[in-house]
Amino acid sequence: MVAKEVFSGNFALYYEKVINRISSPLYVNRWRRNLVKGALSCLPKPQVVLDCCSGAANIGELLLKEVPDCKLINCDISPKLLSLAKEKLGDTAFFIRSDNRFFPIKDNSVDLIFSSFCVRNSLEPKLTIKEVMRTLKPGGVWGILDFFKNEKNNFSLTLNNILFRSFMNLNKFVSQDNRKAIDYLFESIKNFLSLQEFKEILKSYGFKVVQTQNFMGGLASTLIAVKKEV
Ligand SMILES: C[S@@+](CC[C@H](N)C(=O)[O-])C[C@H]1O[C@@H](n2cnc3c(N)ncnc32)[C@H](O)[C@@H]1O
Repeated sequence: MVAKEVFSGNFALYYEKVINRISSPLYVNRWRRNLVKGALSCLPKPQVVLDCCSGAANIGELLLKEVPDCKLINCDISPKLLSLAKEKLGDTAFFIRSDNRFFPIKDNSVDLIFSSFCVRNSLEPKLTIKEVMRTLKPGGVWGILDFFKNEKNNFSLTLNNILFRSFMNLNKFVSQDNRKAIDYLFESIKNFLSLQEFKEILKSYGFKVVQTQNFMGGLASTLIAVKKEV
């Protein structure tokens, strides 16, 4: 199963209306706020912002509270989640259905890009990184939040992994679609890059990583990277 199928089927609404509604106030919104705050500390007044894999605009909502007059473009593959994003943001933002490897956006035209739980879901993560590189302006900022593959275990990570996986596993009992989606989530983390590997790739593509932060012992991490000026 690939992410596109997971988020285009019945699981998409369950994810947003149940999983996200429970997990956001408990911990995920803290990660998202850290991402938005970190990016804005590098670029306080971005004019054009692209939220790649925007889903139901959970990042956009936080961003527009801080920078209400920016031009926010939400890109996502899932029509269901884009509809929820439209309900939430109305005409304060733009909405584009697109794959995270091919944004219909001009070269060097975006000030700030967010990829929250996005690159891991790409069929070709390196193409997604290249696409960010192509569309960001020189000096532009990229904020990433994701579950990276863990290389080193520690007590906090082990405990948080047990809690996180138990919560996700409970959702499997609801439907067959949920079972496939949660299995996909665990597989995608196992097959993804570690934070260190990801940072190395960013450097090789011409980004400077300026901030990283781990949450819950490294269960999730945020990174802020800047596209080098030529
Ligand atoms: C876990 S959700 C995260 C949504 C949002 N960024 C957030 O923080 O709440 C992952 C999102 O990635 C989108 N997605 C998955 N595969 C994609 C692809 N190939 N291209 C674009 N979006 C994709 C899904 O539709 C979904 O909205």
